[in-house]
Amino acid sequence: MSIFDKYFSSKKLSQPVNMAAIGIDMHSHLIPGIDDGVTSVNQSISLIRKMCDMGYRKLITTPHIQGEVYKNTPEIILNGLDEMRQAIKKEGINIQLEAAAEYLLDDKFIEKFESKNLMTFGDKYLLVELSYFSPHPNLFSFIFDLQIEGYKVILAHPERYSYWFNNFKKYEELKDRGVFFQLNVISLGGYYDIPPKKMAEKLVDAGMIDFLGTDMHNENYMTGLQNVRTEKYLDKLLSTGKIMNDRI
Ligand SMILES: [Fe+2]
Repeated sequence: MSIFDKYFSSKKLSQPVNMAAIGIDMHSHLIPGIDDGVTSVNQSISLIRKMCDMGYRKLITTPHIQGEVYKNTPEIILNGLDEMRQAIKKEGINIQLEAAAEYLLDDKFIEKFESKNLMTFGDKYLLVELSYFSPHPNLFSFIFDLQIEGYKVILAHPERYSYWFNNFKKYEELKDRGVFFQLNVISLGGYYDIPPKKMAEKLVDAGMIDFLGTDMHNENYMTGLQNVRTEKYLDKLLSTGKIMNDRI
C-alpha cells in the first residue's frame, strides 16, 4: 500500500454509515421536469427506491424557485408531489414524500416573500440558497425580515459558496444571526471538488452543521451519496447528535 493509499484509507470507514441515522432528507429535486433535477417519473422512482433502501424513511423534496429560471409556484410543486406520491404507491415503495422548495435569495424573491405563500416544512423551516458567483449585498437584512415573520432560515450547502472560503467570519456571523446550515452530504466525499470538501470538514469541525441534505438531482448524485457513506467525517458528524433532520 502506498503512502497515498494509506492516507485515504485512514479517512474511510470499513462499513458504510446507515442513512437511517439521518432518517429524513430535506433537500432534493425529485419532481420531474420542473427544475434541473429528475426528468421523468421513472428516474425519480429509481432514485427514491435507492434512498429508501439506504435507510431514509421520509423525503422532503425541494424544487428550485429562482427568478426567471425556475418559475415554480406552490401549485406546480404540489401537483408534481401528487403525481410522485401516486407513483410511489403504485410501486409499493415504503417511504413518505413531502414537498417544500429551495428559494434562491434574489431580487424576485421579495415578491414571493410579500405574497406570504412561501413553501416551508416542519415548524416554518425555509430552505434558501445564494448565488454561487457573488455575495448577496443585503443578505443580513433579508434574513432579518424573514426571521421577523417567523421563518426559520436554513442556508443550503454553505460549503459551496467559494467567495467565503477565505472569510470564515461570514459563516460565524450567519450562525450568530440564527441561520441554520444544511450541508450537502456528498460534499464530504469530494463530489464538488476538494475546496468545498475542505470547507465542509471545517464546518463540521466547528460544530456549525444543523441539517444534512442529499440535494439529489440524478444518478450522479446517487453515486456520490453511495460513496460518501464510508467517509469518516460523515460518521463524525452524525455522532455529535446535533443533526436535526429527525426532529423536523
Ligand atoms: Fe438543491
